[in-house]
Amino acid sequence: MPALRLGNTAPNFEADTTQGHITFHDWIGDSWAVLFSHPGDFTPVCTTELAEVARRASDFAQRNVKVIGISANGLEEHEKWVKDINEWGSKVGPTDVGFPIIADADRKISTLYDMLDEQDATNKDAKGLPFTIRTVFVIDPKKTIRLTIAYPASTGRNFDEIIRVIDSLQIGDKHRVTTPVNWKKGEDVIVHPSVSNEEAKTLFPEHTVHKPYLRTTPLKVE
Ligand code: BEZ
Repeated sequence: MPALRLGNTAPNFEADTTQGHITFHDWIGDSWAVLFSHPGDFTPVCTTELAEVARRASDFAQRNVKVIGISANGLEEHEKWVKDINEWGSKVGPTDVGFPIIADADRKISTLYDMLDEQDATNKDAKGLPFTIRTVFVIDPKKTIRLTIAYPASTGRNFDEIIRVIDSLQIGDKHRVTTPVNWKKGEDVIVHPSVSNEEAKTLFPEHTVHKPYLRTTPLKVE
């Protein structure tokens, strides 16, 4: 199976989730999507991650992003675990896992998205089948894969970073700009190399030329 790369169409699939049966592309609709896998239900790092994603529901909604989790467990386990996540997460702030979690006990979808752990001998179920790793796919409304990240089972992800990349992608889709190291929404951006100096005068009247190949500009974003 060829690897999924940036620019590929995210494979479509049908799945049972904690919020009913879905066809992935239909579920995404006109939104962006974050599909994120986690090693297993009732595990500590994953519990903290899912609680954080639940608490940040409004950050995703503001950006027109739908979020969907997946792990190599069944629906019954997912549903019990969601109660634990809500209970634990609420110690930090109101937590209600309002996004679906895909049941993938047979690893059909994790195999399709190459999310299974080949390395960590401890990240296996009782039958010895590998669990998933912490993979993230950001998918745009055309169903194109725009970001992939793979973290080891031992390290919880940084959802600030995932939201930061979504901001960068969405701004880059609307304006002919890229974003520099450690950029955050509201900070100056880089004029895209494909923009000529003549075009830059009109498109970005406040831009600064630091080097012929490095031009920055403030950008008003809604
Ligand atoms: C965790 O979520 O804590 C975890 C899951 C699998 C392996 C290691 C850690």
